[in-house]
Amino acid sequence: MEIEWSIESAEKGGYPHFMLKEIMEEPEILKVSAKISGEEIEKLAKLMTECDRVYIVAMGTSLHAAMVSEYWFAELGKVVIPIDASEFLIKGVVDEKTLVIAITQSGETYDTIKAIRYAKSKNAKTATIVNVLGSTATREADITIMMGAGIEIAVCATKTYVAQLMVLYRLFIEYGEVIGKDMSKYKEEIKNIPNYIKEVLNERKNIKKIAENLKVHNYLFISKGINLPNALEGALKFKEITYLHAEGMSSGFLKHGTISLIDENMDTIALVPPSNSKLLNSVLSNIEEIKARNGKVVAISPIDVDVDEIIKVPDVMEEVSPFVYAPACQLLAYYKAVELKRDVDKPRGLAKSVTVE
Ligand code: G6P
Repeated sequence: MEIEWSIESAEKGGYPHFMLKEIMEEPEILKVSAKISGEEIEKLAKLMTECDRVYIVAMGTSLHAAMVSEYWFAELGKVVIPIDASEFLIKGVVDEKTLVIAITQSGETYDTIKAIRYAKSKNAKTATIVNVLGSTATREADITIMMGAGIEIAVCATKTYVAQLMVLYRLFIEYGEVIGKDMSKYKEEIKNIPNYIKEVLNERKNIKKIAENLKVHNYLFISKGINLPNALEGALKFKEITYLHAEGMSSGFLKHGTISLIDENMDTIALVPPSNSKLLNSVLSNIEEIKARNGKVVAISPIDVDVDEIIKVPDVMEEVSPFVYAPACQLLAYYKAVELKRDVDKPRGLAKSVTVE
């Protein structure tokens, strides 16, 4: 008997694509991201208390991670400003009391590196949250925090996104402690997060079926609050590998224009907040408005909702919930792209790292 074997399939660990392999690795790599760079995170948290303004510059998926952290820090009364690195030189207000944190998986993204250099030229403090040791960002920034996700091969960022979230979640906890808050309930959750993600990954058969039932060419990803960046990220993931049109926005923004697009040709993926969220009813009422216009709704939800399809996620504390919606969105995009026979690991016209303007 001959067994088919290739280095590539061995590297994929038996999975058909790197993207799926990397999603499935998330629970394990988060155990690393939960421990790595402790001293640097502490240093950065202290620096945050000393600076008047904190920007988080990033591109693509890394920017969405930055946007999640904005909600975490807001809870502690700390304003951090996530900003598209390519706009930073235009609207960033930078001086020596400014801290600029660059999030970049590769550590090589042109606009993000340019933003760090600009910050340094204005005598601002700089830090980077990065996956590739020795990359340009690590050489340029004052403080380097590794995300510990291991090499990511698929162009689509998946495990590095949740690793970025973990590092930022730890920075949120550390900052809270520095300013004297009791962060124990958040700290306690760190060890549970990999298991929450495992629960989502165990739903993948159902997610595959739901992905295959998506038949239209236009998709809307909505949410409110801390999962809004996940809605934006869900849409980005979906369009980049399926080549179907998708956009993400807050459910509140919907009625200011986009709702006129809703009909049977536009499906909505709604990220329904956890059952303890004060935002829950608001998102549910937006879902009703979509249904009233004959839009199909897929809910990524911890609770039962009266919609066309439900992807069940664990009902966790709202502050931890970004970790559970992210893999659900990633798997949905993955299975749709596989069904459409797209080049999942190398979507057309995209690069893992964009090192030119
Ligand atoms: C490219 C990749 C994205 C990534 C973005 C930022 O567009 O295709 O997946 O999010 O660059 O990359 P970085 O390495 O800076 O996180």
